[in-house]
Amino acid sequence: MTLLALETSCDETSAAVVRDGRILSSAVSSQIKLHAEYGGVVPELAAREHLRNLIPVAQTALRDADVQTGQLDAVAATQGPGLPLALLVGCKVAQAIAFTLRKPFVGINHHEAHLYSPWISQQPLSPPNGERVVGDRVRGENVGGIFFADFTAFQPNVSLIVSGGHTMLVKVESELKHRVLGSTVDDAAGECFDKTGKLMGLPYPAGPEIDRLAEQGNPKAYDFPRPLLNDPGDDFSFSGLKTSVRYFLRDHPGILDDTQWLRDMCASIQAAIVEVLVKKTIRAAKRNHVRCVTASGGVTCNRTLRRELARACEREGFELRLAEKSLCTDNAAMIGILAERKLLANIAPTSLDEEINPGWVLA
Ligand code: KG4
Ligand code: ZN
Repeated sequence: MTLLALETSCDETSAAVVRDGRILSSAVSSQIKLHAEYGGVVPELAAREHLRNLIPVAQTALRDADVQTGQLDAVAATQGPGLPLALLVGCKVAQAIAFTLRKPFVGINHHEAHLYSPWISQQPLSPPNGERVVGDRVRGENVGGIFFADFTAFQPNVSLIVSGGHTMLVKVESELKHRVLGSTVDDAAGECFDKTGKLMGLPYPAGPEIDRLAEQGNPKAYDFPRPLLNDPGDDFSFSGLKTSVRYFLRDHPGILDDTQWLRDMCASIQAAIVEVLVKKTIRAAKRNHVRCVTASGGVTCNRTLRRELARACEREGFELRLAEKSLCTDNAAMIGILAERKLLANIAPTSLDEEINPGWVLA
């Protein structure tokens, strides 16, 4: 089965071609530079950029995969959650393509796609039947292998989805069957990285910059709060940490003038966020009697989070599957992979007149 998938829920315009669990191509056009000027995503601008870029990005994905529209068996797009105007672009374009080709359309929940992205890994596969595989590029990197979703290795897991808009723990009982255990009651972890970074004068999105500066900082230099760390539930809260950083900066004027102090601040803030994420994930995994932990979403790019999750899982005897870095941030490939699984599981396609669902909550 060959699918074209589109993703436009926030500030990445992405298209991918997926065939039989393999990502043949994945094109992502990031709007980060555009929004950096405003210190955050401006919905109207995001939608205009999607309108401008989506067709060229989709053409790139089809060309990279060496696939013609006539070879497509289905078209998928993110239906929600996300910015309404941004979602409209991808969803309506995908429905129009499906209509023209007389093929099924699959509307996907963005978080559900993140949830299964850790099962996609890079494999040096030789293509069957001498078929030409050209789609070994994700995010413009020539990775020299192909990304492949291997659900034969699937096992029940507790999954951490951690991004700019969301932080949640989900129990995934079997493929396509999951239950949300907890989510953030205020800011998401990525938002906490971005907002505390903004307070320190770092460019948007500050997460990757904090990650970089923290490498040479002392994580124990400043003791920031670990919200809800000892709460027995699976919910998160990060706005108190942000407020604490704001007061700390107010009470220590000049601290940011010293590069080492800035690095120490970054390392200390990051340590607080990571400790909460790791401890609560491990606790949820133990309580739910699973043997596997997975993580995905933009913040899963964070090196300290990856390292600390790996350490904790090794210590506690859990198998850990982290989404590949290139698939952590928003991308259409994960949308296509999930859409294909749904069609293979005989889940009915989405109607062509179905609306976007900007507030679609993962159950
Ligand atoms: O999944 P994503 O691309 O978009 C959303 O669905 O939100 O995640 C973007 C978020 C931003 O908050 C960004 O700061 C954060 O992921 N992020 C990071 C890192 N790379 C991206 N946070 C911490 N460390 C990183 N290396
Ligand atoms: Zn996302």
